[in-house]
Amino acid sequence: SKRTKIIDILNGDQLGSTVVVKGWVRTKRDSKNVVFIALNDGSVMRNLQIVVDNGSISEEVLASITTGASLSVTGEVIASEGKGQAVELSAQAIQVLGEADPEKYPLQPKRHSLEFLREIAHLRPRTNTFGAIYRIRHAMIFAVHQFFTNKGFLNIHTPIITASDAEGAGETFMVTNFDMEKPPKGADGQIDFNQDFFGKKTNLTVSGQLEGELAALALSDIYTFGPCFRAENSNTSRHLAEFWMIEPEMAFYDLKDTMDLAEEFVRYLVKYALQHCEEDLAFLNKRAEDEDKNKKQEDRRPMSLLESLQFVAEHDFERITYTEAIQILRNSKPNKKKRFQFLIEDWGADLQSEHERYLVEKHFKKPVIIYDYPANIKAFYMRVNEDGKTVAAMDVLFPGIGEIIGGSQREERYDQLTHKMENMGIHAADLQWYLDTRRFGTAPHSGFGLGFERFMQFITGMHNIRDVIPFPRARGSAEF
Ligand code: 4AD
Ligand code: MG
Repeated sequence: SKRTKIIDILNGDQLGSTVVVKGWVRTKRDSKNVVFIALNDGSVMRNLQIVVDNGSISEEVLASITTGASLSVTGEVIASEGKGQAVELSAQAIQVLGEADPEKYPLQPKRHSLEFLREIAHLRPRTNTFGAIYRIRHAMIFAVHQFFTNKGFLNIHTPIITASDAEGAGETFMVTNFDMEKPPKGADGQIDFNQDFFGKKTNLTVSGQLEGELAALALSDIYTFGPCFRAENSNTSRHLAEFWMIEPEMAFYDLKDTMDLAEEFVRYLVKYALQHCEEDLAFLNKRAEDEDKNKKQEDRRPMSLLESLQFVAEHDFERITYTEAIQILRNSKPNKKKRFQFLIEDWGADLQSEHERYLVEKHFKKPVIIYDYPANIKAFYMRVNEDGKTVAAMDVLFPGIGEIIGGSQREERYDQLTHKMENMGIHAADLQWYLDTRRFGTAPHSGFGLGFERFMQFITGMHNIRDVIPFPRARGSAEF
C-alpha cells in the first residue's frame, strides 16, 4: 500500500487522517498503559512517535519490535500531548517487515564513535549523523546543478576511462582487461599495451578538465561533476582514492574572473545549505560542539559550525599572491607550542599544509585564495605570466581543511604550451586532440575544480573525509 513519508506527517498537514508509514525502529519505550516507538524513514532527521495502546497489538508482535527492525504501521495522525513533537501516530495495526535480533544488531540507541561506524559503513546510513550528512550531500549536489544552470552553463559528462594524466602527478589507476598473470608481451619482453582492450595504456581519470576544455572551446561555459580517482599515497583525513569533483571551464575568462566565480559558487552553496538544511545542520552543529567539549582548548574550533558557515556566506575571501604568502610566512614567528614550525625554503617551494593552515587559521582567520604560483610546482596546462616564472594559478584554502579548490587560466598559446610540455617531458603526440584546440580557434579560457568531499567536510564539520562520502575508498580499504 502507498506509504506517507514521515517528513510529510511531521510537517503537519495530515492531522486527523489515517496513514501508512514505513521505516526502521530507533527506540521502543514501555510506559504504564502505552508503548512508544520512535520510527525513522530517512526523509527527515526527526523520528515519528508511534503510540501503541496496551492490548491493541499482540504481545508477540510487540516483542519483535526492537531497535533496527523495519515496520509498516497503519494509524491515525493525532496531536501529541508529549513535549518533543506536535503530532504523533496512534497505531491501529503494525506489521513487522524485518526483525533485527537485538543480540546481534550492531547499532544501539546511543552515540557510536565514528571509528566504529566506519567499520560498519554498510549500516551507518541508519544513524542520525549519517542520515544528516547524506541529506545535506544531496542538497549540495542539487545546488551545484542549480547554480550553474542559472548561469547558463552546460553540464558535460567527461570520460572515466582516459589515456591521459591531466595533473601529471603519476597517481593514476591503470585500466586493463589483460589477465595480469600472463599479459601479452612484445618483442622487447615488455607488456604490449597495443594488444590491450583500447589498443593503448589507459587509466581512470584524475580530472575531467582536459576534456572539459574541449567543450568550453565550443560551448563557452560548461561544468563537469564526476568521480575522480587518484592512487594517493598519503593516508590523511582529506584524501580519498575515489572522490567527486566539480570542474567549471569558461571560455573568455581570465584568472580574476575565475576567482570571482569560485567565490560566488562556494558562497551560493553555503547559503543554500543554511536555507534548506536547517535541521540537519543544527544537529551537526550540536554534534561538533559535543565533540569539542572533550578536546583541549587549543584544539577546539574557533567558531561553531553554524557560525563558520554564516561567516563564509557573508565575508569576502582574502586574496594574496604566492610571493606575498611567502613573505608573510617568513615574517611569522614560529609558534611557541611548535604547532606551526616553518621550513620555508627559497621562493619556489611548494606550500605545505602547515603553511596553508597558518595563513588561513592564524594569520587571516578566513578563507584565502593564493594565486600566481611558481610555474615549476604546477601542472603543464597553466598559463605563464608576463614574468616568465609564475603561472596564473589559484588555490582556495579553507579553515580546518586546507585546499578545497585548485584552478587556473589555461595556456591557450600553442607555442608556449608545446614548449612547456617539452620541458616537462609530456609527449605532444599523446595530446594531439588537446593541442588541436590551440591550433584552431584558440581563445583565452580558465577553470577550477572544487573537491566535493573537501567542501562537504566544511559544510558538515566532519574531520575525516571518509565520513562525508557514503562508500569511502582509500588505501587499504574498499569494502563492498
Ligand atoms: O588541485 P587539483 O589536483 O586540480 C585539478 O584536478 C584541476 N584539474 C582542477 C581544474 O582546474 N579543473 O584538484 C582539485 C581539487 C582539490 O583542491 C581538492 O579539493 C580535490 O580536488 N582533491 C581531492 N579530494 C579528495 N581526495 C583527493 N585525493 C583529492 N585530490 C584533489
Ligand atoms: Mg591542487
